Amino acid sequence: MREYLPILIAGAIIGVFTALFLVAYAILKRHKEDMTDRERNMSDKEIVTRLLAYARPYWKRFVAVFFVMLLSIVYDLISPLLLAHIQDVIKQEPTFDLRYLFGVVAFYAGVLAVSLICTYVQAMILQKTGQKILSQIRLDVFTHVEKLSHEQLNNIPVGKLVTRVTNDPNAISFMFTNILVTLLKNSMVVVGILVVMLAVNYVLTLMVLCFVPFVVLFTVIFRQFSRRVHRQVSNATTDINTYLSENLSGIKITQIFNQEEQKMQDFVTRSRKLRKAKYNRMYVFGVFRPMVYMLFISSQMCLFYFGAKGYIQDTSFLGQTITSYTLVAFYGYISRFFNPIQTLAEQFDMLQRSFASAEKIFTILDMVPQVVDEEDAMELDEIKGEIEFKDVWFAYKPGEWVLQGVSFHVAPKQTVAFVGSTGSGKTTILSLICRNYDIQKGQILIDGIDIKKIKIASLRKHFGQMLQDVFLFSGDIRSNILLRSEGISDEEVWEACRYVNADSFIGKLENGLDEVVRERGNNFSAGQRQLLSFARTIIHKPAVMILDEATANIDTETEVLIQDSLEKMKNIGTMLVVAHRLSTIQHADNIILLSKGKILEQGTHQELLHLKGRYHHLYTLQYNKQQLQNS
Ligand SMILES: Nc1ncnc2c1ncn2[C@@H]1O[C@H](COP(=O)(O)OP(=O)(O)O)[C@@H](O)[C@H]1O
Ligand SMILES: [Mg+2]
Repeated sequence: MREYLPILIAGAIIGVFTALFLVAYAILKRHKEDMTDRERNMSDKEIVTRLLAYARPYWKRFVAVFFVMLLSIVYDLISPLLLAHIQDVIKQEPTFDLRYLFGVVAFYAGVLAVSLICTYVQAMILQKTGQKILSQIRLDVFTHVEKLSHEQLNNIPVGKLVTRVTNDPNAISFMFTNILVTLLKNSMVVVGILVVMLAVNYVLTLMVLCFVPFVVLFTVIFRQFSRRVHRQVSNATTDINTYLSENLSGIKITQIFNQEEQKMQDFVTRSRKLRKAKYNRMYVFGVFRPMVYMLFISSQMCLFYFGAKGYIQDTSFLGQTITSYTLVAFYGYISRFFNPIQTLAEQFDMLQRSFASAEKIFTILDMVPQVVDEEDAMELDEIKGEIEFKDVWFAYKPGEWVLQGVSFHVAPKQTVAFVGSTGSGKTTILSLICRNYDIQKGQILIDGIDIKKIKIASLRKHFGQMLQDVFLFSGDIRSNILLRSEGISDEEVWEACRYVNADSFIGKLENGLDEVVRERGNNFSAGQRQLLSFARTIIHKPAVMILDEATANIDTETEVLIQDSLEKMKNIGTMLVVAHRLSTIQHADNIILLSKGKILEQGTHQELLHLKGRYHHLYTLQYNKQQLQNS
């Protein structure tokens, strides 16, 4: 009995740990809601199929990698045998042949070198392919996002989109470059080693196999834990990213309102959550790895105990004798056997995470752009600029009508002004004309053609929009005015700038049109940005110009200049203007007064004044205020 004592001790230790593990698992299992995976809408099969589509163009490379990998496995399989053999040779002392030994060692080194080269080649091929796949996915996501409608874009936080274009494709490319190959390699190594071990000594192999069920059990439990902690980490990361991207954009507001402390606290809370999640992940791995290591050591001990015992007593069991050759070889195999098993579990987990990333990406790719060209949509090369709204009803959210039966007509080259209190629907009307959103009821006609029947790109080509908050891209002044349209000379750019009176401030800049524009144009004043956006708009000589509170940021002096250029711009095409200062729109051909999404009054300035209605009221208010300021 005493001779089995080491086994009993090892068995007892493993048993205790297994029991502890199972208890922890049972406790965790009770928090059922945490255990269930985030609801997946796509099956693994669908995800794999779609992912394979990205890998298909490179299938030759993957086949090459497979063969290179087979070569690199050879080292794992034969090195323990070689070591054992070397040990045999040395034991023949004093008669051993030094030159023969040298030959064996050289062969060993050769196998090692081949394996290293193979691993290098494999990594290079995979990395390159991975980068190609990665950039393809990134491109797909980005171009798809560009097609989404304003409403769809409003619904996805920018931080999330950034993650979709950067992190998630990374996870997928990591799957192609690393996870899949390691998974395959490890599985093959495990199987290969089993075969070789069985061939060398099946009794010892069976002994090693006794430990495998424990490894499997630990692994299954580990996966439950690890999935949980991974989800925690990923949620906490998304959370912190979204928080950061929003608050870094708004950091100036934070500073102005002295909210740094508060924001700091919010950030610290999120940061702590992430840290805790990462700690948890560390603990889970910190428990799992030593557990498998413990199994490995136990099997090693059993090997030495039984092996040495069998060797010394020269007993044979089931017809197998144990030699020092077997012992050394098995020592090598056991360590090579447990390692891949352990990583297999972790790799499986990473595969799951890649799938999760893939699903998130596919969800974005599957978002059908809401505003799309109809099949029979037509190109529109020239337009006169006639606009008509026929009983238009529109709601951003179902049931909450923002426009209720709006009808009006704008003749070509007319100037129409929209007035009304904030939230009355002015901006909405303007964005409907460009089909940023689709209306629910009614019709919008351009030159008598329903805008749904016109290709969107072709429709928007004819519009020039000038909005209250101008968005400038980082780059230079020229690129911001041209916005990538080609074949326009600097002379034409200057001409446009002169037209909107932007030339004087650009002329004073050190580098003129080459002056650097920083992110969002933060090195220019709001008025200057506005002037740039005017130049940007009129350079294309649009048939319809839309000015949404475009003059709000401009000082009185500049406004006179703007008024002057607006007068000139009237000759270019139809103009739709939203302005709060009624004095700026007095000369409009038609003034439309909106209230809560309905047209209350419309007519010329004089007509509306005679009406003595809301417009008259607003005008007298503003007029009196002006008089007060002047006196
Ligand atoms: N993207 C949006 N999603 C949901 N509601 C919106 C959106 N944009 C505007 N609204 C709502 O539509 C109404 C009209 O807004 P808007 O046309 O911008 O008014 P105005 O330009 O006259 O100040 C407001 O009540 C506003 O809350
Ligand atoms: Mg508005």
